[in-house]
Amino acid sequence: MFNKGSPYNDLPLLPPLIELETKEILKAAISANKALAELKGAANTIPNQSILISTLPLQEARSSSEIENVITTNDKLYEAIASSTNNFDPQTKEVLRYREALWEGYKELQTRKLLTTNLYIRIYQKIKETNASIRVTPGTKISNSKGEVVYSPPEGEEVIRNKLRNLEEFIHTDDELDDLIKMALIHYQFEAIHPFTDGNGRTGRIINVLYLILKGQLDLPILYLSKYIIENKNDYYKRLRNVTEKNEWQPWIIYILNAIEDTAKFTSVKIIQIKNLLDKTTEVAKNKLPSRVYSKELIELIFVEPYSKTEFVVNAGIAKRQTAAVYLKELEKIGLLKSRKVGKEVLYLNNDLQKILVD
Ligand SMILES: Nc1ncnc2c1ncn2[C@@H]1O[C@H](COP(=O)(O)OP(=O)(O)O)[C@@H](O)[C@H]1O
Ligand SMILES: [Mg+2]
Repeated sequence: MFNKGSPYNDLPLLPPLIELETKEILKAAISANKALAELKGAANTIPNQSILISTLPLQEARSSSEIENVITTNDKLYEAIASSTNNFDPQTKEVLRYREALWEGYKELQTRKLLTTNLYIRIYQKIKETNASIRVTPGTKISNSKGEVVYSPPEGEEVIRNKLRNLEEFIHTDDELDDLIKMALIHYQFEAIHPFTDGNGRTGRIINVLYLILKGQLDLPILYLSKYIIENKNDYYKRLRNVTEKNEWQPWIIYILNAIEDTAKFTSVKIIQIKNLLDKTTEVAKNKLPSRVYSKELIELIFVEPYSKTEFVVNAGIAKRQTAAVYLKELEKIGLLKSRKVGKEVLYLNNDLQKILVD
């Protein structure tokens, strides 16, 4: 029996015992699959994948954190990434740790094709910078914006671990169910288990993207799902609640499928814009840069992060320190970068790229 105020140890295991492939769900699933396949294709048109893997996941990290009221700006993030110091505000650091957690999960998937409880724990520990693990003490509650308790997740480490084991099994079972519908079920279940004292929303949203990669639906963690959730936040909460309270799966699943479709389309547009800018920038650089300065690698480098600095050019093996500094100045001379002093450092902004990313 469900009761808002007491731990929901009766949370049913997956899969739900209802018809999932209704006409409405299948219709939404077809559109979402199509948009996601197009995104995968768009990503493949970018020659150097490190261009996408730095910039786009940062937007997801920022928005996913913002859902949890961990708020920073793109400017602060970019400066923090480019700076050699470590004195940024805690929220900026937390967003950067989110991106690292996402990367770590992504790298793990390349070697071990599994989404295990241990991986969820590591993601959580990274985001929250903690050694804590699965909740062992009672009292975790989910409240609404008025402070009223709306849900109390299961309690007892064994209870929680058993439910996570079932979730893992469900993730790795090859059934006939559409991957994207499955992702919706996985996300609800993870949030309802709520295995940690905090960080469950963010860990759960990282698992979403990793699941799509596990299933080959995406090659890179670039889907910007949290954008949709921020824009439709009340529905996100309401539909999660209605699964628990009324067994209303369909509106939840359709919500997630629409989120995938919407943000896959949005992300595809961003990628196409980045690709066009990369082509245009390459043209300008080829025509205007001294030939000893121009290289494909140099132009690609100024697309990896919106801010560049000498050290990045050196680390990429493009030039030694002094030459690297000259290269960035030359890029500024022909209008492709704009320098800016931050502390003791000079950072070079790729303004057009930044505009695409933050728009
Ligand atoms: N009624 C609900 N049932 C299950 N999960 C919920 C419910 N309401 C919100 N959530 C999930 O809980 C998350 C917030 O949990 P929390 O541990 O604070 O995550 P974070 O630290 O990442 O803020 C939300 O983002 C959402 O995914
Ligand atoms: Mg929280």
